[in-house]
Amino acid sequence: MPQDASILYLSEAPSKLECIEYFGVHRLSETPCLKVPKAQGEKAIALARKLNLLNRDFKIQRLEDHLYIPLTQKPFRVDLKEFKNNLLEYEVSTHEFSERARHALRLIDVLEEKLAPHLLVSLPHAVDFVGDVAIVEIPPELENYKRMIGEAMLATNKRVSTVLAKSGAVGGVYRVRKFEVIAGVDNTKTVHKEHGCIFHVDLAKAYFSPRLSYEHSRITAQVKQGETVIDMFAGVGPFSILIAKKCTNVKIYAIDVNPDAIRYLKRNVKANNVVAKVTPILGDARQIIQEKLSGVADRIIMNLPENAIEYVDVACEALQTKGGIIHYYEFTNAPNPLETAKNRFDEAIKQTGRSLEKILMARTVRATAPYTWQVVVDARVR
Ligand SMILES: C[S@@+](CC[C@H](N)C(=O)[O-])C[C@H]1O[C@@H](n2cnc3c(N)ncnc32)[C@H](O)[C@@H]1O
Repeated sequence: MPQDASILYLSEAPSKLECIEYFGVHRLSETPCLKVPKAQGEKAIALARKLNLLNRDFKIQRLEDHLYIPLTQKPFRVDLKEFKNNLLEYEVSTHEFSERARHALRLIDVLEEKLAPHLLVSLPHAVDFVGDVAIVEIPPELENYKRMIGEAMLATNKRVSTVLAKSGAVGGVYRVRKFEVIAGVDNTKTVHKEHGCIFHVDLAKAYFSPRLSYEHSRITAQVKQGETVIDMFAGVGPFSILIAKKCTNVKIYAIDVNPDAIRYLKRNVKANNVVAKVTPILGDARQIIQEKLSGVADRIIMNLPENAIEYVDVACEALQTKGGIIHYYEFTNAPNPLETAKNRFDEAIKQTGRSLEKILMARTVRATAPYTWQVVVDARVR
């Protein structure tokens, strides 16, 4: 049988296979096709994929009770034998297909033929993009494939130059995490854009999370003209710099105990042209407030969810005598996270001799682990 002939195979069952060869003229737009009853669709698609025959440029079509599967070429004898052995009923012919909308290549598209199905389901779903760096968590069962996954991420994200795998939890006083470079340029420094600001950061040396982007803008939207703000745990400056950029006539004291965070904060203050509004201060927030910033603030940001509670007293000391607003963050695994955070904060405020005038809002910022959340309480303190 000549290989260039269009071939039509009809079969009810493999034993009754009929082969009809025909040499009809077919239009160029027609594509080789495998037609199967719908019930055999999944098996036929898997088989076409296995034989490297599945044509991904076109959409698989369903007409009445049949699926039309586009093929990359007319099947060879060896392919037909596989069809015969595996499918109860099928036809090979040509068909006009519509083109698949071109979507960005996904990780699974690149890896589906390289990884077993039980490994494909474990592929990381959550990827953080900070500038041109992608950060993933590689589950233990994919540890041996992490470089392959990293390369696939580079292939599917043209703007990514480095892929980092988390190799530990966020920890220590500076709240940094260890990373392993699994693909691309061996580098943890990048420049990230958020809400029209730019942030230079070295992810191995200072904390930064793109997952807090909404919080940065939510708090900024509340700041009023003329306010003095203390960002007690400022990191590389995502709250301070955005507030300075968006609000008029504000004064912001941005404190952090991590020298690298302050080095990047100073660089970011310059890069965003907010030198006149933001004062970066290196040191422990308690000590800095007690020495220099007692009674000055209209608003305090306490984004140190692990132990902000221990600094509520000094936050109250930093507020003006008339009071002001505190944005208090904490991690909780309590069954009722918002109520728990509000009560803990209220208790801590009472210990200082001040009082809670009003809870303006409490919300869950994000889940940080199973049954653990980061929550925020915005409160007016008298
Ligand atoms: C969770 S990060 C938040 C950074 C920043 N607010 C953000 O949204 O990206 C907490 C920061 O607090 C700093 N920090 C921890 N203890 C501190 C302290 N006692 N005084 C000042 N900064 C502190 C850490 O170095 C870290 O940069």
